Amino acid sequence: MSTLPVLNNADMYHHQSDTQFRDGCSLIHEMLKPKRGESILDLGCGTGRLTMQLASLVGDSGRVVGVDPDSCRIAVANEQLKKMDDIPVTFQLGSIREALPLGPFDGIFSNYVFHWFERAERAETMQQMYDILKPEGQLTFVLKTNQPQLNAIIRDIFHLTEPNLDEESASGIKMDVSSVWLQHCSDAGFVVELSEVFRNEKAEPNLDRLLQFLKASIPNFQPSKLTDDGLQKLNNRYKQETATRFPFRLHY
Ligand SMILES: C[S@@+](CC[C@H](N)C(=O)[O-])C[C@H]1O[C@@H](n2cnc3c(N)ncnc32)[C@H](O)[C@@H]1O
Repeated sequence: MSTLPVLNNADMYHHQSDTQFRDGCSLIHEMLKPKRGESILDLGCGTGRLTMQLASLVGDSGRVVGVDPDSCRIAVANEQLKKMDDIPVTFQLGSIREALPLGPFDGIFSNYVFHWFERAERAETMQQMYDILKPEGQLTFVLKTNQPQLNAIIRDIFHLTEPNLDEESASGIKMDVSSVWLQHCSDAGFVVELSEVFRNEKAEPNLDRLLQFLKASIPNFQPSKLTDDGLQKLNNRYKQETATRFPFRLHY
């Protein structure tokens, strides 16, 4: 039997997002490199761990806004904010549309968010990102691309929980190769200075931890739909296969 804790998803994400946090920190320090006094939008800020990092770099004379459509995550972010001394951060429920009146910004930072955008809304969202930036503004992002696709064991999990749905409908993750995203950027008016694809491996020590991570990260995921029989089969596979490591390929 699975022993999932009874935390809400936002708390779970806050405590299980070390990989995202690590990659986001690299992106901030190696690519975005915010300067003191700058204004930065953290699009899809989640529980705000990286938003706080951004704030520490722009300093008191700067400004950081974190936006996210998940009210539970924004609530966790605001709780964290209350524990900090006066720092130049505000959190806003919503997405780029709700952030528009808060611009213009020197930079947009977005960590593992774009693969959640609805396909039909991508072009408009990219355009709004372009419009909310100052003329020399910079967009820096990392997302999941589809080489390889979701790891086999994750596909199997979704096949068991949502047997009638394809992988994208079941997970909500809308992956594409990096050239598709480069085209979206160019179409919106961005000049692409750098794009990289890299392999990132995240290991979960056992099936329970993997299920917890999926529950914390994927709104549609319903682990309660896994039967004891299904869990047993997944457990056996998890122990036998190298599938305990599941690779992401990312582009920014
Ligand atoms: C994997 S989490 C990343 C959170 C945070 N950036 C981090 O690195 O920890 C993806 C986040 O994107 C948010 N999201 C989903 N769709 C979005 C959209 N259209 N606009 C902005 N954020 C969105 C989700 O609510 C979620 O918090």
